[in-house]
Amino acid sequence: MIATDEKDINGLRAAGKVCAQAMQLMMASARPGMTTLELDQIGEEFLKKNGATSAPRAMYNFPGGTCISVAPVIAHGIPGEHVIQDGELINIDVSAELNGYFGDTGASMVVGASTPEYDKLLASGKAILEKVLTRVRAGKPLNIIGRTVQQEANKSGYNPIFDLTGHGIGRQLHDKPSAVYNFYKPDDRRALENGLALAIEPFLTTGQGHVVEKADGWSLKTVDNTIAVQFEHTVIVTKGEPIILTLP
Ligand code: CO
Ligand code: CO
Repeated sequence: MIATDEKDINGLRAAGKVCAQAMQLMMASARPGMTTLELDQIGEEFLKKNGATSAPRAMYNFPGGTCISVAPVIAHGIPGEHVIQDGELINIDVSAELNGYFGDTGASMVVGASTPEYDKLLASGKAILEKVLTRVRAGKPLNIIGRTVQQEANKSGYNPIFDLTGHGIGRQLHDKPSAVYNFYKPDDRRALENGLALAIEPFLTTGQGHVVEKADGWSLKTVDNTIAVQFEHTVIVTKGEPIILTLP
């Protein structure tokens, strides 16, 4: 949606905040020995307590309140009986609706002891999202997002995931523009409009950059079983720095 008035901006801000707080709580609560379902329940209870509704459950009948993906799954992982192991790379993605507005945020992390390989990929993923945010400005081409993600990923020795995109957001979880690519598409002529609410979510992998759906009908894992990370913020495009909505 295009959010330029106070009411819409504040509505999106409130939705973004509750998503960010739920995700922060889940990240702080994640422990080896806990199931992904237990972790999901912490997040969904927090959303409910704050008047918010899980977006994937409400909009898509997703069998969970949040998406918890255990590597090599990187998106739409179903919370369940999986017991989180020490040193496991996971992704938590929280999207929710509050008073008719949607927020969407995600982050990857290692539960317990990490490795230099994981740390480097995580640091690159975070830094790339930050870098993209410094370049997002009203009037610039939308493909500056994918261009930045791909360039920076390659500089670090990684690939973006070509099949997974960011998206517009607002009064729906997935709004126009529908595909905010994580790679450079020179023929994409769309421009960043002032007030555009966007979920920007670079995905990085040590592999080829493609995913495949698992037999559960939801989980998306890297085709080559390589590790991947994702970091996501919901923002509003302005003439200056974007407004980051998914802050706790
Ligand atoms: Co998300
Ligand atoms: Co998203």
